[in-house]
Amino acid sequence: LTQERYPVTRLPFSVVSEDDLAAFERIVPGRVITDPEVLEASNVDWLRTVRGCSKVLLRPRTSQEVAHILRYCHERNLAVNPQGGNTGMVGGSVPVFDEIILSTALMNEVISFHSVSGTLVCQAGCVLEELSRYVEERGFVMPLDLGAKGSCHIGGNVATNAGGLRFLRYGSLHGTVLGLEVVLADGTVLNCLSSLRKDNTGYDLKQLFIGSEGTLGVITAVSIQCPPKPRAVNVAFLGCPGFAEVLQTFTTCKGLLGEILSAYEFMDAECMWLVTRHLRLASPVQESPFYVLIETSGSRAGHDAEKLSDFLDQVLSSGLVTDGTVATDQMKLKALWALRERISEALSRDGYVYKYDLSLPTERLYDLVPDLRARLGSRAKHVVGYGHLGDGNLHLNVTSEAFSPSLLDALEPYVYEWTARQRGSVSAEHGLGFKKRGVLGYSKPPEALRLMQQLKALLDPKGILNPYKTLPAQA
Ligand code: FAD
Ligand code: MLT
Ligand code: ZN
Repeated sequence: LTQERYPVTRLPFSVVSEDDLAAFERIVPGRVITDPEVLEASNVDWLRTVRGCSKVLLRPRTSQEVAHILRYCHERNLAVNPQGGNTGMVGGSVPVFDEIILSTALMNEVISFHSVSGTLVCQAGCVLEELSRYVEERGFVMPLDLGAKGSCHIGGNVATNAGGLRFLRYGSLHGTVLGLEVVLADGTVLNCLSSLRKDNTGYDLKQLFIGSEGTLGVITAVSIQCPPKPRAVNVAFLGCPGFAEVLQTFTTCKGLLGEILSAYEFMDAECMWLVTRHLRLASPVQESPFYVLIETSGSRAGHDAEKLSDFLDQVLSSGLVTDGTVATDQMKLKALWALRERISEALSRDGYVYKYDLSLPTERLYDLVPDLRARLGSRAKHVVGYGHLGDGNLHLNVTSEAFSPSLLDALEPYVYEWTARQRGSVSAEHGLGFKKRGVLGYSKPPEALRLMQQLKALLDPKGILNPYKTLPAQA
């Protein structure tokens, strides 16, 4: 399936032998998995669009074990695919051929938490939702949140530089990650696990690994800044009559809610149709062409409620919003978030999904959706737009009954060329992985690509770390 859809040739890495398995058994005793049934789940991505044929999965517990494994693989010229929760959207988390899967699933210990600074230090395999629970019990929150929180690992989040639902408030992991421990391709342990907010001693090496998608090193531990848990959280779920109104509501909300605004997400009517149809969720508001989810987070409930109520009065009376509902209690809050967070799940139940994750000028964020509906006609089942409007990030998704090469030809390079004309990004937050590695050039100049190739060659001269991913195949 993979090779047909994405033509690629295996590079001349060694093939895992019985001796290699015995060596791994000495490094991680009892944690060398060769059972095909267990391997099956780790060979296929969450979207079930790419599949590898790895014969072995390793489950180290410590950085030292990761270092031993990589030293050995480097020596033997064996390719390695780092894997966290396997929720990645671009086929980066699964092998393309028979790469060894290096899973962080057992590296799930919290190392330390400081309740004055809010600095959390933990192993890379901690599941995001578990970390959220851990810090919330101590009066803090994780600076990131995403629909995959129940499965994704913090190491995977850092490796993909995941954006998600709290980006508008707390910014990128490039700002909130304070330090990393990384094992390089040759087994060197690079300990940059600082907990300092400020540190200008030389180049900030950790930044190289944030968003490097397992191609430059294996992240084994993360130090991350957690903000205090907001005392008051409100969610408003609103219906808007058009995209122009979605934009004006955003402007109004930035003006009237100011510092308490913590999320501004949007979805179109087709997304609502998909979540109500495939997941049996109920829409809490009247049918509208667009919906927005606004979250406020602040320190005083009364103050925030007053601001939110002024804002709602204004948008409802001016007709920017035609219907809406507000939640403050945990249950309803979660139910409103589910409508937005579970769109990707609903889409995957609709058929084959063509996913695009674009950064675009906010005013033009939705233009491509109706344009594609007209272009694709009945060839597509659904063409939908949703995403992190507050961050200028559109998720444009197209579904069809089954994979169709002609539909793909109608989508690509059209979508990428359109995005490049707007000087947008062809990957806002999901990365390039295996499926998008050929499109980097739409958003970066040749000089940047060359420097990336040079950095890869410097850090991983044999190219054993996540081969066939992120960077275009070299001529
Ligand atoms: P994996 O999928 O296992 O791996 C992803 C990549 O990182 C691979 O290239 C892998 O090789 C590499 N990698 C993993 N662990 C390590 C490590 N320790 N060291 C080095 N490399 C490593 N993304 C967003 O940005 N925003 C969203 O809102 C969002 N929502 C999502 C919702 C759903 C329902 C799903 C399924 C996915 C969503 N994603 C989102 C995609 C996102 O990239 C991942 O969910 C997450 O960041 C990946 O973490 P993971 O542990 O599953 O990594
Ligand atoms: C989201 O924002 O829902 C995620 O990035 C996942 C997706 O786009 O499907
Ligand atoms: Zn997203």
